[in-house]
Amino acid sequence: MSSLVDVGSVRDLADGEMRSVSVEDKDLLIVRVGGEFFAADERCPHMGGRLSKGLLRGTIVTCPRHGSRFDLRDGRVLQWTEATGLALTLVKAVRSPRSLRTYLVSVREERILVDLDATGA
Ligand code: FES
Repeated sequence: MSSLVDVGSVRDLADGEMRSVSVEDKDLLIVRVGGEFFAADERCPHMGGRLSKGLLRGTIVTCPRHGSRFDLRDGRVLQWTEATGLALTLVKAVRSPRSLRTYLVSVREERILVDLDATGA
């Protein structure tokens, strides 16, 4: 079973660009990198920062609030906030690292389709 939603035309997103799209009560992050499209939750799993306002380098997105970094290919955490040492231990005790939810993306007739029921990993 899939729940495909149309989030726009491939022409709306240049390579290396990301944007937020609201569909079915969800805020999604849609990203184009090297001709591939990725979709993830727009809100950072740390404390809800808007990832579309962050930094994109390749498939790595950095949250603008506290610097957590995630790989959009599978949502894995590469860095949990910018904290280090004891501060990082405290940050992890308050909110343990958790992956960014990603979604399966397909392109059909130049439309970007996101499956809300299937993970992108
Ligand atoms: S809200 Fe994203 S790193 Fe804190």
